[in-house]
Amino acid sequence: MADTTTSYSDVMEQIERDFDGSVERLGEFLKLKSISTDPAHDEDTARCAEFAAQMLRDMGFEAEAVQTPGHPMVVAEHPGANPDAPCVLYYGHYDVQPADPVELWDHEAFDPIVIEGEHGPRIVARGAVDDKGQVMTFMEAFRAFKETRGELPCRVKVILEGEEESGSPSLDPFLEANRERLSADICMVSDTGMWDIETPAITTMLRGMVYVEVTVHGPSSDLHSGMYGGAVVNPINELARLIGMIHDDRGRVTFPGFYDGVAPLDHEVKAQWDGLGFDETGFLGAIGLKEGKGEAGYNALERTWCRPTCDANGIFGGYTGKGAKTVIAAHASAKLSCRLVAGQDPQSVLESIREFFESNVHADCRVELESHGCNPSIAVPTDSKWLVSARGALTDVFGRDALLIGTGGSIPAVGSIGEILGIDSLLVGFGLDDDNVHAPNEKFELTCLRNGIRSHAAMLEAFGALSAH
Ligand code: BES
Ligand code: ZN
Repeated sequence: MADTTTSYSDVMEQIERDFDGSVERLGEFLKLKSISTDPAHDEDTARCAEFAAQMLRDMGFEAEAVQTPGHPMVVAEHPGANPDAPCVLYYGHYDVQPADPVELWDHEAFDPIVIEGEHGPRIVARGAVDDKGQVMTFMEAFRAFKETRGELPCRVKVILEGEEESGSPSLDPFLEANRERLSADICMVSDTGMWDIETPAITTMLRGMVYVEVTVHGPSSDLHSGMYGGAVVNPINELARLIGMIHDDRGRVTFPGFYDGVAPLDHEVKAQWDGLGFDETGFLGAIGLKEGKGEAGYNALERTWCRPTCDANGIFGGYTGKGAKTVIAAHASAKLSCRLVAGQDPQSVLESIREFFESNVHADCRVELESHGCNPSIAVPTDSKWLVSARGALTDVFGRDALLIGTGGSIPAVGSIGEILGIDSLLVGFGLDDDNVHAPNEKFELTCLRNGIRSHAAMLEAFGALSAH
């Protein structure tokens, strides 16, 4: 491999010089309450989009926050120094999850703070790692190139979504309408994790998702549980019974046809994963658990990376206020999500969930199913020139090889960018397992921020040396 380190040492020095500035800019980004799922924060979300667009303009990009029926899409473009070099599209999201439960945060979720942790300083705030901190890893790499050289090694396009955490409803129509504007040779995504703080990783498998809200309707109105209890169906009991039936005693999902198309784990991939030395006891211990639970015959890594699942994410109905109220509720609801793997068709899974509930529910009940989004699983080619080139750049930065890993999470945009724009993605993320993604006290290690910026600088330089096709 060519020694690229010296070719961009000017950029690396600039990253070091301006690192405090990078942290400060991330802090400003994190103050904006871009909670996409909550209409009360629509204005904050729009303000955050404008903030991101302005950051890009400040670096010489042509950038705008484009209106959609939902939250704005930030779109930007910058010409590259070399017309023969590839065009790289960077995808990230500026929206965040709600901070709830707010009482479990040690500091206010939207008042970022840098504190000392076991790996040195870390920034704590909602969105620190998912995904504002990771968006800043490529933004600050662009800044360092601009400041040292006045130009970027490749033509760069950026799309920052504001609805990733709420099912990406506006993304597909936006991509359809902007095919030309967003055309590129490769898409770079930083919204995943590293293997550990010293070991970079390229994620090659993402799970897909089907998210539904199921409501069981029973009696025509709420009932006194003394007058009717024991003689009528109780929708909460019924929903709980049905949720209990979703898994058999081997931990397999019982929706009809759920596993259709799911191939057994490839021997070579299994051997590679076994070689990673995954510490299952540590993985469970870090979250206060010992046993683990899931599909029989698979370890925790396989259960999360390559096996499909169904989890209840919320359940509600009846009286949930203080004290007691003796009532049989007229209806009960649950939010359920299935993580999907290669071979599963999201639409067929949605239909099989419907069939499961409709065929098993009590005769006096009616099931209503509302879909909150479907997206397929993703497998990234492991032999592409992009991956080889990114891997070399990561080795330069970390002094050790990047591992090829899977992840249990989903990024719907990766499927859409592949299907609609015809662009493959490369998933290089800088999060850690203990970053409290979607949870109280979400954080991003400043070491990960720094190495993320350095990695993007190295990867951008390496892509600049490739031909476009
Ligand atoms: N960044 C995450 C995906 C992720 C999580 C990747 C953990 C690797 C490790 C992303 O922002 C996310 O949370 N996605 C949602 C998608 C859903 C709302 C369709 C998810 O996975 O739950
Ligand atoms: Zn994310």
